[in-house]
Amino acid sequence: MNDADYMNFALDLARSGLGQTSPNPAVGAVLVKDGQLIGMGAHLKAGEPHAEVHAIRMAGDKAKGATLYVTLEPCSHFGKTPPCSDLVILSGIRKVFVAVTDPNPKVAGTGIERMRKAGIEVEAGLLEQKARELNKVFFYNIQTGLPYVTLKSAVSMDGKTATVSGESKWITGEEARIDVHHFRHQHDGILVGVNTVVKDDPALTTRLPSGGKNPVRIILDTYLRTPIKSRMLTDGESPVWIVTGGETPPGQEAPYREAGAEILRMESPEISIQEMLAILGKRGITSLFVEGGAEVHGSFLKERAFQQIITYIAPKLVGGKEAPASFGGTGIEKINEAVNLTIKQVDFVGSDLRIIAEPK
Ligand SMILES: NC(=O)c1ccc[n+]([C@@H]2O[C@H](COP(=O)([O-])OP(=O)(O)OC[C@H]3O[C@@H](n4cnc5c(N)ncnc54)[C@H](OP(=O)(O)O)[C@@H]3O)[C@@H](O)[C@H]2O)c1
Ligand SMILES: [Zn+2]
Repeated sequence: MNDADYMNFALDLARSGLGQTSPNPAVGAVLVKDGQLIGMGAHLKAGEPHAEVHAIRMAGDKAKGATLYVTLEPCSHFGKTPPCSDLVILSGIRKVFVAVTDPNPKVAGTGIERMRKAGIEVEAGLLEQKARELNKVFFYNIQTGLPYVTLKSAVSMDGKTATVSGESKWITGEEARIDVHHFRHQHDGILVGVNTVVKDDPALTTRLPSGGKNPVRIILDTYLRTPIKSRMLTDGESPVWIVTGGETPPGQEAPYREAGAEILRMESPEISIQEMLAILGKRGITSLFVEGGAEVHGSFLKERAFQQIITYIAPKLVGGKEAPASFGGTGIEKINEAVNLTIKQVDFVGSDLRIIAEPK
């Protein structure tokens, strides 16, 4: 095992907590001495010990003289827990490899500085790109205050989300549908348009064989026409926020509030995606999973308001001029004005294809 191997192991540990540490990043740490693994840890949940704390506790007295591999700069401020850089110093660790410095302005290099001042040899930047990619949601959110937006769609090979008669259950196979639940687990918020609620009455919960964490469910509904008997308003599984236009009569809100939903009222009569994202960011939504329908996707496209798109393509053909595609709205007129994407990953999920791309 060389330094990169140990850091890769720390990145794997970090990955295990991905999506459940919000608003904190996912972090992993590995402690090594004389070629032996003596401690390891991952940050699992905000408010709980940081990765370094777990690794150092596991090593006990053996930490003295050891080398620490940590995927993010150890913190230097008193948050919900005392600073890890102090603990690293106290434990007698001799050398620290840091994959990437913490973009949080409260830390930003000061953790490294503290350890160096105490005589610890610190090397920053080992597997930095990989560490940044792993925490891309955290980096984006801390720098913009906005949620990192992922658009999800599921289409046939001819790009349709349903048949001409509107039947859409199920275009993709079971494995792909389970895969979607892994992404739900990793997100703070999930969003759909009111037409999807009216037509499909979805639960939008995370249903993995092992359970999982439910995101906050968000509905775009300018005129408050979400059916009061809809599943989301009656199942009590996770919070429901209904985003509504600025001119909806306030009297219409009462039944929704009684059903436990929160109403987020926009300034303008229509729902501007950018205005809504700023509000969600202020309310602590660091990541948003947008599941459609086509009109909602069309709006996110028009406002260029997304950081990632995940498309599942099923080996099926449905045809039909009137069969819906995954993006509606008014669309882009000129091909040279199209949103250009970089494909980051292509995988088979069961017999479907999953493409993950980001705007250039
Ligand atoms: N295959 C899939 O993956 C998938 C996923 C989701 C949905 N679907 C299907 O998609 C169909 C519904 O899609 P849809 O395109 O008709 O409707 P939609 O996108 O679910 O909802 C659109 C509605 O949301 C409201 N809205 C409020 N603010 C908006 C904004 N800024 N941008 C866009 N919409 C906004 C509008 O109604 P108001 O003006 O009344 O507010 C609009 O008509 C359903 O049949 C569902 O089965 C398929
Ligand atoms: Zn810490």
